[in-house]
Amino acid sequence: MPDQSKKSWKPFFSLIRKAKLPWGLYGLTFIVMFLTSTFSLMSPKIMQRILDGEIFNQPLVYKYIGLSIATAITVSLSGLVRVFATSQGTRNIQNTVWSKYIRVPLPFFNKEPSLLLISRLTHDPQHINGAVNHFISILMSTYGLVGSIIIMWTMNVKLTLVLLPVIPYILIVSLLVGHFTQKTQDQVQTRYSGMTAFLAERLPKIRLIKSFGKEQQEIEQGDDVIDDQYQADVKRAFVDLYGEPLIQSVQGVIMGLILVYGGYLTTTGELDVGSLVAFYLYAANIHNHVQSYGVFYQNLKAAKGAAHKISDVVYSDSEAYKREKSFAEVIEDSDGDIRLEHLAFQYETQDVLRDVNFNIPEGKVTAIVGPSGGGKTTILSLIERFYEPNVGRIILGHTPAEKIHLDEWRNAFSYVSQGSPLLSGTIRDNIIYGGNDNITDEQVKEAAAKANALEFIEAFPEGLDTEVGEMGSKLSGGQRQRIAIARAIIKDPDYLLLDEATSSLDVETSSKVQEALDVLMEGRTTIVVAHNLSTVKNAEQIIVIDQGKVNGLGTHEELIKDNDLYRNLVEIQFAKEQRLAW
Ligand SMILES: Nc1ncnc2c1ncn2[C@@H]1O[C@H](COP(=O)(O)OP(=O)(O)O)[C@@H](O)[C@H]1O
Ligand SMILES: [Mg+2]
Repeated sequence: MPDQSKKSWKPFFSLIRKAKLPWGLYGLTFIVMFLTSTFSLMSPKIMQRILDGEIFNQPLVYKYIGLSIATAITVSLSGLVRVFATSQGTRNIQNTVWSKYIRVPLPFFNKEPSLLLISRLTHDPQHINGAVNHFISILMSTYGLVGSIIIMWTMNVKLTLVLLPVIPYILIVSLLVGHFTQKTQDQVQTRYSGMTAFLAERLPKIRLIKSFGKEQQEIEQGDDVIDDQYQADVKRAFVDLYGEPLIQSVQGVIMGLILVYGGYLTTTGELDVGSLVAFYLYAANIHNHVQSYGVFYQNLKAAKGAAHKISDVVYSDSEAYKREKSFAEVIEDSDGDIRLEHLAFQYETQDVLRDVNFNIPEGKVTAIVGPSGGGKTTILSLIERFYEPNVGRIILGHTPAEKIHLDEWRNAFSYVSQGSPLLSGTIRDNIIYGGNDNITDEQVKEAAAKANALEFIEAFPEGLDTEVGEMGSKLSGGQRQRIAIARAIIKDPDYLLLDEATSSLDVETSSKVQEALDVLMEGRTTIVVAHNLSTVKNAEQIIVIDQGKVNGLGTHEELIKDNDLYRNLVEIQFAKEQRLAW
């Protein structure tokens, strides 16, 4: 872990080391910029000689023209190289962050809102890369500044001495303007993110807004958010309004000094007109160079902040996929029973599971039932090893789960939940997601048929090529569910986790999905969480979970006899079915 204090530069440097920045391109930028700076140091001296009467000195004029052309070329070349360096640098940092996102353990995502995580990837890398790029500019500015001062010194010491005090003035002005620019720019960014967050949350909930008649309220809230953004923009514009003249004043002071004092020196014969012009050109350079120090300082501050935020992500530990044993090896040496031993778990501080013990026999159906919020989904998450238990362990055969390669472990499971998520893309894309690359259309259709989905898929004009929309929004709940089941079938897992997979569906669809599930469950170790007790009656064992504890364990008949909670649940359900039957 990096030093977390806000003052530390460690995250910044370790991040640019880790992100594999395009150092070759930065080197090239350096060389091209070095040439540009050298040319612009040479050019006023030649101008001076030309103005001093050497206008008919052809080689000199050619040299001047050549130098101008060379400068033009290196300037545009450095622009080009910088574009590449900047884009590649940003891209590499973004790649680092993205692959980290995919590999960090699930608890990470419970802590951070996803919009914040998005901005870590879109926005912050630019700051870091910007600072690296600007560092090259600073080297060049230093070179240009020192070079200019030395040349001016050799031309006229007095005028140089008069100009030197301008340097701190430029520095103060550019730091001041830079400070307020950065501050207001940050605010613009924050407000902009706020607006994006507001829109991203509201737009998918338009139905909710309309059905509760909250249009006016939402319009007003949106207006407020938009107005916040506007206010920040105005502040930012005011900084430019006052900052720009301040920056310009520097130029005025320099020009004034050179014209007044330099002019005076020409009348006394200490300076000729050519030198005066050359002096002016060098002094203009000084202005640009010093100003870039101010900009650099602001850049560096922003980059440091960004590096701190990103390093939280980049230095979180990834899930360790490689463990001691392969899944296949463990299964070969023992049966495929999974045992939960003394499991205790908390998401944050509250106990969600306490001392959970039970065995999941291979090839059989284990059902988990119990009141909502009792911890059933959490048990499935622990079995899939999305979270580590705080106490206790999960054992496959004789081997503790944490000793088995994580990727292979998860590959052995399929999880079908109530709101099975689909990704945007076609139905085919979504089904294939469960398998490897070389899956034929025949296999996709076979899986769809087993999932009871082929009929409705073929009823779409575009069949498997039908787009499912964002999160599958163009399909009904039952259709989404059956595609999710087809996806699970393609994966062909040894273990199946079903989490209330039919509970949000109407009776008819639910029975279609149940049929599909029955096919999927055949010959697999299945753990099924179900609301509808009639679907779990035939399970080999039923586990009653209440408030994070195992309240009862047995077959349907045993539990009806011995377990009050289970009997109660069955009675409630029975009464409901009676009502429905009427
Ligand atoms: N990601 C989470 N972060 C914090 N608490 C959670 C999270 N998921 C579930 N919980 C809490 O854990 C408890 C058990 O939830 P869950 O396992 O989903 O219950 P069930 O599936 O039995 O309805 C609930 O009190 C719930 O509020
Ligand atoms: Mg649940």
